[in-house]
Order: sequence, then structure tokens, then C-alpha cells
Amino acid sequence: MSILTTTNNPIGFFDSGVGGLTVYSKFRKLLPNENCLYFGDTAHLPYGNKTKDELISYARFIMNFFGNQNVKAVVIACNTSSSAAYETIKDDYNFKIYPIIQCCAQIISKLPIKRLGIFATPATIKSGVYESEIKKYNSEIKIYPQSCHNWVNIVESKGQNNPENIKIVEQDLLNMLNNTPEKIILGCTHYPYLLPILTKFADKNMFIDPAEYFVDYIVKDLNKNKLLNKSSNIGNEEIFVSANPEQFKIASEMFYQIDKLPKLINQDSIALTK
Ligand code: DGL
Repeated sequence: MSILTTTNNPIGFFDSGVGGLTVYSKFRKLLPNENCLYFGDTAHLPYGNKTKDELISYARFIMNFFGNQNVKAVVIACNTSSSAAYETIKDDYNFKIYPIIQCCAQIISKLPIKRLGIFATPATIKSGVYESEIKKYNSEIKIYPQSCHNWVNIVESKGQNNPENIKIVEQDLLNMLNNTPEKIILGCTHYPYLLPILTKFADKNMFIDPAEYFVDYIVKDLNKNKLLNKSSNIGNEEIFVSANPEQFKIASEMFYQIDKLPKLINQDSIALTK
């Protein structure tokens, strides 16, 4: 696979919705001169209850969409897609691909802890990819995986203040705490939006948001591959969604202020070439 080397080509980020903005916002702060595209696949929310085949086909659609825009790299800012689709699609494109789980596992595995909880979507937990990736580097660590069924919907509907939703998150957290983990990974990019609830019931140092490690990894790797944009001008940004641009803008506010409404992309308008 030959990698494109035109450094001012854009970098594409994607997720099922606003979750990936927890990664994107950090990246944008660090490298404001990069040209960026963000795709929220809101027509298929939540990814966490989709099948592997469905998740692969959504990922291919978005990869092709980004490919048509000559990206130099794609950031899979979605744990569910990284766990279900990355392995199948990773060699099919002529740009770099950064999957969140696989890029962060080694760093997480080196944390000085013995008991690690993982909160993630049902599809991510079912895949077992978080555990297998971390255990590649640290076979001693004890891992407690837990699916969080409604969390993504709570975030996308901006329902963090609803008492019933607070109860759901609290109950899931209490179940996890029964395992006495030293740290818990927020293994879905939507979950940092729930930190105001989670930190009512546990110390904020209990939670690991992999976005920090992830962005650091991406920046170092772009640098290593001489892909960083040399221009010092502020980079362009375009945000796309496959449904409900207004709702996306409202739900995103906690992590990223979007000035104009995201562009709506009709899935049939892009030829699937892979
Ligand atoms: N934010 C995504 C993740 O990191 C997907 C959540 C979903 O749509 O279920 O897994």
C-alpha cells in the first residue's frame, strides 16, 4: 500500500455520532493547522447494537467517502468500528488508518494497575478486542468488561440531566465497582460526555479517557511519516452527518462548538467501490 504524501490533504475522523468529537476536539486543539473532515454516521446510531457485517459496511461507506476527498489519513474515533471493522478493511485503502483501540492498547497495558474495568458498547464488548489487544502487551492484567446499553442514546439525546438516565449510569457504575477495579476505561468515545454523572459516584481519577493517548499517538505517527501539514494557517474543517444535523449540533456542545450546521450526506449519493 502506498501512502499519500501530500501533507495539506485533509484528515478524516468518524464515529456513529458526536462521540468522536471527544477525540477530534483534542486533535484540533493540538494541530489547528490541519485540514479536517468529520463524519457522524447518525443515520445508523447506535453502532453498539449493530452486527459485525453492518459495521463493516458503514465503515467502508465512510472510508470511500473520505477517499473521494483525498484524505491523507482516517481516524476511527469509534471503539465499536475499531473492534468490528478495522481488521477487515485495514489493507484496502491508500491512506493511513488510526483505530482507537489498537492505537491505545499498548499504552493502557503499561499503566501500573492490576485490575482494569472496561465500559463499552455491547458490540465492542462482544468482540473481545479490547481485552485481546491489551493482553498482547500485558497478560497479567485482570480485565472486567461491561456493556453499557443506553449510554450512547443518553448522550445523543442530550439527556444527561434526566433523573432516569442518571439512575441507569449510576447502576452500571455500581455494578462495575463491585469488581473493585483500579481504573475504568471509557471504551466508547461517547462516554466522556457522561463524566459529570460518573464523577458524582466515583473519583474522576478512576476513569481513563483513551482520547488523550490516542491523539498523542496519531500526532507522533503523522510526524514520523512526514504527514504533518507544513502550513501555519488555520486548517479548514467540514462536518458531515448522515441524519439529523440540528440534533448533532445540540448534542455536541459539551465537547465542540460547531458554528454552522453539519452537511447532510445522503448515503445513496456515493458510489460504493469496495
Ligand atoms: N462512539 C462509538 C464508540 O466509541 C459508538 C457508539 C455507538 O454508536 O454505539 O464505540
